[in-house]
Amino acid sequence: MLHLLPLSTLLLVAQVFASPLVPSKSEPLPLLIWHGLGDNYAADGLHSVGDLANETNPGTYVYYIRCHDDPGTDSRATFLGNLTEQIAQVCIDIETHEVLSKAPALNALGFSQGGQFLRGLVERCGDRIKVKNLVTFGSQHNGIAKYQICKDGDWLCKGYVGLLKSNTWGHWVQGNLVPAQYFKSTNDTTGVPTPEYLENSNFLADINNERTLKNVTYAKHLSQLDNFVMYLFDEDTTVIPKESGWFAYTNGSDGSVTQLRDREIYKQDWIGLKALDRKGGLHFETTEGGHMQLSDGILTDVFSKYFSTKSGSWEGTGVAAESRQEVIEL
Ligand SMILES: *[C@@H]1O[C@H](CO)[C@@H](O)[C@H](O)[C@H]1NC(C)=O
Ligand SMILES: *[C@@H]1O[C@H](CO)[C@@H](O)[C@H](O)[C@H]1NC(C)=O
Ligand SMILES: *[C@@H]1O[C@H](CO)[C@@H](O)[C@H](O)[C@H]1NC(C)=O
Ligand SMILES: *[C@@H]1O[C@H](CO)[C@@H](O)[C@H](O)[C@H]1NC(C)=O
Ligand SMILES: *[C@@H]1O[C@H](CO)[C@@H](O)[C@H](O)[C@H]1NC(C)=O
Repeated sequence: MLHLLPLSTLLLVAQVFASPLVPSKSEPLPLLIWHGLGDNYAADGLHSVGDLANETNPGTYVYYIRCHDDPGTDSRATFLGNLTEQIAQVCIDIETHEVLSKAPALNALGFSQGGQFLRGLVERCGDRIKVKNLVTFGSQHNGIAKYQICKDGDWLCKGYVGLLKSNTWGHWVQGNLVPAQYFKSTNDTTGVPTPEYLENSNFLADINNERTLKNVTYAKHLSQLDNFVMYLFDEDTTVIPKESGWFAYTNGSDGSVTQLRDREIYKQDWIGLKALDRKGGLHFETTEGGHMQLSDGILTDVFSKYFSTKSGSWEGTGVAAESRQEVIEL
């Protein structure tokens, strides 16, 4: 025998069933990926990395950081722009993003220059965006000593580098050409950064707190990470010096390397790396190959170690919760 219930009762039943369905905290935290020089946020290669993150930790929401919605313009912005403005805009984009703004925290993955930009984002924007784990591959945390960014025969690029070289410390170059903002000149006799760098660097000297006046907020934010993982490509010939990926200083005269833990930036803890190290959150890793020669194996390893639900979880994008409710109403 069929019992026909009025529609209102049915809805009531559905609601009673639906209300205790507090979404379970089962999804991995969203992942931010910041691409490198010349790349763009919509590139297939980049998305295959994001897909692998989702495959390794199912349900991972991936946000590909961009400076523009148009991929071509986004790629241009890796060469042209003021990093202070780019990072401030990215902070707003993430803070107001409909999914990311709901997550309790985020993880972050930076490729090459995208790595030091993400670190800058953590330092400057850490009171508005909470990042738990930051992983960088082949980044230039201690800057670059040479501009080596063009492929053979790329004359447009060579013209660009000519512009960079001719006036690295000029106000226009520092405000408009991206690699100049993480170029670093050091007096290799003394190992001390040059006055031109300290005075004019629009990005690196600031986020590395190398000037007399330190911003203690930067150190506070960076030391609040759970993990900061720095990968170096052992045959990197693109980043000069490659040890920059570990915050090391390489003497340009004799090639000797001073590791981070022997440097003032660490010993005086200008940016919180020592505090992070003390709690076991600072990791120096090496991977085989040249600049950005990434294997799925390394990425999967990193994703399962640092970006899984073990590092934090949340209820996700809401898609799962909605579908559960639909089932009941049917
Ligand atoms: C993650 O993978 C699942 C299953 O393949 C897919 O349904 C989902 O759309 C993917 N999520 C993202 C953010 O790519
Ligand atoms: C230090 O950095 C924070 C975060 O970016 C900023 O709000 C503050 O104005 C900075 N302080 C100084 C003294 O520059
Ligand atoms: C970069 O942008 C910031 C914020 O608009 C501005 O204060 C600064 O002067 C700019 N830097 C250069 C070198 O133009
Ligand atoms: C480097 O420092 C030494 C010692 O202070 C000084 O004599 C030399 O002129 C500096 N070199 C440059 C290129 O400024
Ligand atoms: C760099 O190497 C040169 C040549 O060996 C040496 O004279 C100089 O003292 C070194 N600089 C530092 C900071 O160790």
